[in-house]
Amino acid sequence: EKSGYKHFMLKEIMEEPEAIESALVGRVTLEGPVLNELKEFNVERVEKIKLVACGTSYHAGLVFKYFVEKHSNIDVEVDVASEFRYRNIHVDDNTFVIAISQSGETADTLESVRLVKRKGAKVISISNVVGSTITRESDVTVFMNAGPEIGVAATKTYVNQLIVLYILGMHLLRMKGIWNEELQRDFEFLKQAPEIFRKILNNIDLEEISSYYKNYHHFMYIGRGINYPTALEGALKLKEISYINATAYPAGELKHGPIALLDPTFPVFAIAPKDNLFEKTKSNIEESKARNSRIIAITNESNKELEKIVDDIIYVPDSPDDMYPLTISPVIQLFAYLIADMRGYDPDKPRNLAKSVTVE
Ligand code: F6R
Repeated sequence: EKSGYKHFMLKEIMEEPEAIESALVGRVTLEGPVLNELKEFNVERVEKIKLVACGTSYHAGLVFKYFVEKHSNIDVEVDVASEFRYRNIHVDDNTFVIAISQSGETADTLESVRLVKRKGAKVISISNVVGSTITRESDVTVFMNAGPEIGVAATKTYVNQLIVLYILGMHLLRMKGIWNEELQRDFEFLKQAPEIFRKILNNIDLEEISSYYKNYHHFMYIGRGINYPTALEGALKLKEISYINATAYPAGELKHGPIALLDPTFPVFAIAPKDNLFEKTKSNIEESKARNSRIIAITNESNKELEKIVDDIIYVPDSPDDMYPLTISPVIQLFAYLIADMRGYDPDKPRNLAKSVTVE
């Protein structure tokens, strides 16, 4: 059932193009992005959105926040469910809550849904599992249609969460009368995403790069803006399956403390596509280099500015700025996968972790 792949995790990464196709069915129309699930909701009224989720799903929520805030004046807040459920959350008629849970069974996320429902909020859930608890307790579910995911580490379901959240964001913006050329380009990109992912996955070869890094004990992931969550997700993937102490910071926070850690034993993984914040991230990379850290960076094909600065570089296709969290995802996943495998661990069954976290 691994279809010839050594692990489910690798198989599931390679399935991302088809998973994206399934997530887009019925949601990309000639008129634009559509989510029929939200028909009954007066989405044009929304002024505040609160997202709640755990782990990788929380990172997908952060990407949504950066995306929707950039294009509108909707206030978007994201919290991890284990904090959210114990906060004093305020909701009003113009607040929507979005709960993201691949499994639909995560205890803290479910309790968060119950909490805001008691306060009268409308809850949209995003899940991959038909019939899961969250789908029964929320007002409506948007399914991510990724197909079953066996590997404990979320891979294709993260990609599909992003796809569904971008569509949801675009739908919402359009309903509020917000649309512009950049959003149109983002939308066109989503339509081509399966093909773009096929190209990335067919061409990528990270074996050599991964083997340089497999014996480090520490890793610092940095990113900015919409790719700060990408750094968080890269570090989570690496730590959960390879047991390397990977940590992630917004690149601009380095000099407020964590840069003290950097030395030749502590490599930096920079998420650095050429977007509006590239120059800032580039100077953080230079600062890290000055501490003699080995630097690996991901950027886009046409950007050659990092070649002389970093030690290793991975290219992804040029994409609209908003879309780099998508194109970079398979790279950080494969990097973590290869390192775990090279270190002799089973990436499908990381120690101490379960696929569904049904207890607090
Ligand atoms: C990491 C991972 C976890 C889950 C988290 C939430 O690879 O899979 O961090 O994302 O436990 O799970 P769901 O989305 O099922 O609520």
